[in-house]
Amino acid sequence: MIHYFKKAEEGKKTFLLLHGTGGDEMDLVPLANMVDKGNGILSIRGAVSENGMNRFFRRIAEGIFDEDDIRQRAGEISDFILEASEKYGFNPNDLIALGYSNGANMIAAMLLLKGGIFRQAILHHPMVPLSQVGDINLEGTSVFIGAGTNDPIVTGENSQRLYELLKGNGADAVISWFDKGHSLTKEEVLASREWLLSQT
Ligand code: MLT
Repeated sequence: MIHYFKKAEEGKKTFLLLHGTGGDEMDLVPLANMVDKGNGILSIRGAVSENGMNRFFRRIAEGIFDEDDIRQRAGEISDFILEASEKYGFNPNDLIALGYSNGANMIAAMLLLKGGIFRQAILHHPMVPLSQVGDINLEGTSVFIGAGTNDPIVTGENSQRLYELLKGNGADAVISWFDKGHSLTKEEVLASREWLLSQT
């Protein structure tokens, strides 16, 4: 997989970064540095091309997802994380997953498919990615969701439903609302930073 890697400073964790539709592996790097500069970074480029725009899974239309594709690609990404952890020498069980929009949806799907694959996740403007979820245990997983009250792509109801789904399966989830649309603002990034700093 096409990716960018930066080694963590001594004693620091590593971010897994998944960008939004049309982005690439460099998009969220400045944001991750704003959240915690000392952390390492594993940032992946989405392998699906939608009219030249990189994504992490196929969709049929806006908000209508190819769920078989989500399942397959979630598996490929988790295999890649293991390979990368061996190559670069980080602990795959201690990643902080951080994604925006399509990337946040993939992280949400990985949590819902694989239980505690990430202990911490920051999801900017995600939605419920899968219509069916099996028995999962998200105890020990902390999730920050950033949502927009006027997001034209993700309805408030959908953001709230994801929050409840994660929480209902044992995650320690919080949802922060911003009086904005689908864009990712500095205010939201700083709120995720505060949340991360408050985690032990
Ligand atoms: C996007 O454009 O990325 C969507 O709103 C979310 C998705 O398709 O996963």
